[in-house]
Amino acid sequence: MSEATLRKRVTELLGASRRSDVPPFMVMDVMAAAEQIEAAGGHVIHMEVGQPAAPAPKTAIRAAQRALELGRIDYTSALGIPSLRDRIARHYLDTYATEVDPGRIVITTGSSGAFILAFLAMFEPGDRVAVTVPGYPPYRHILTALGCEPVLIETTSDTRHALTGETLLAAHRKTPLKGVLVGSPANPTGTMMSREAMTALIAAAEGAGIRFISDEIYHGLDYAFPAVTAAALSPQALVINSFSKYFCMTGWRVGWMVVPEPLVRPIERLQQNLAISVPTLSQIAAEAAFDGTEEMEAIKRGYVENRQILIEGFPKAGLDHFLPADGAFYLYADVSRFTGDSFEFSKRMLEQAHVAATPGVDFDPFHGKSFVRFSYARSAEDMREAVARIARWLG
Ligand SMILES: Cc1ncc(COP(=O)(O)O)c(C=O)c1O
Repeated sequence: MSEATLRKRVTELLGASRRSDVPPFMVMDVMAAAEQIEAAGGHVIHMEVGQPAAPAPKTAIRAAQRALELGRIDYTSALGIPSLRDRIARHYLDTYATEVDPGRIVITTGSSGAFILAFLAMFEPGDRVAVTVPGYPPYRHILTALGCEPVLIETTSDTRHALTGETLLAAHRKTPLKGVLVGSPANPTGTMMSREAMTALIAAAEGAGIRFISDEIYHGLDYAFPAVTAAALSPQALVINSFSKYFCMTGWRVGWMVVPEPLVRPIERLQQNLAISVPTLSQIAAEAAFDGTEEMEAIKRGYVENRQILIEGFPKAGLDHFLPADGAFYLYADVSRFTGDSFEFSKRMLEQAHVAATPGVDFDPFHGKSFVRFSYARSAEDMREAVARIARWLG
């Protein structure tokens, strides 16, 4: 066998598919560098990771312990435990005064699992789906891996980084779109869409036959004004949410969707085949998490304090240009006054000030080099220390 044939055979047997060729998360490199500093005895303030420092509410942990003592942890139905689906429907009534049929609620493996089910149920390979930039990178990477084409639409500070109907329709006129996905409160910007902005965008999308997906994973963590759910605005919108952020249950891997009625059965069939069901213990814990509101509201008050510390402290430290920190636990700071490369800036800030943050290049291929994302999900003491360190470092 010739060398060329041999090489071809090896590629055929061992090579990865083109669709799996999605970029890694740069934040992982920052985390690895922070670990090295800590291993050498340094104390790093972690503002790079987008997860709550607090554990799941006690009600959730106790429910999981009780379930474990009973012994058997069986599969559940593919759409999820009925009492959890009912409890989520009640959450829509209590929080948003919106009636949602529990039959339209699907339990998923975090919101990450929801994206896969939603995209598979809504789109064909080759379909073009709009996502906003800056934005959460897996939106576009999951679409790519599933054979769809993500269309990146830039948002600007003129609209508080909300996608407008006009911008969406302009992109649609260029090459037709099949869907659009937005998140509010958003990652990495921390900005939120007003009810008017969301209503107008849904109307524009649906008027043009573009399916609307709303990532509401940071709901509950809204400070500037109450977050609005797309479920209250359109029965055709597909809503994605999760127990990861407000409920502090990242590692439990449980989330949910509110899906348009005609998609319930197709999504049920997909879930049956792809996963059978979502981990049962996590579903049991998630239902009990709704009884831990006091605990979660106390954690939210901590984020409110942290946000204030950064909003007041960062300008004094030299970071005087950032987007409105409306919700989630992120502050997206413009560092172009200091650098043309936010990755290099984050690396130096970590090495010299021992503050870890995420360079914007992960979230924005166009202007990410000018921005750094700071997560304020840790203690107030950490936030004060971070401000002091950055002030010394930049000063
Ligand atoms: C905007 C956004 N959506 C979705 C996710 C995925 O979260 P999970 O799969 O834990 O629900 C994240 C995680 O950071 C996120 O920031």
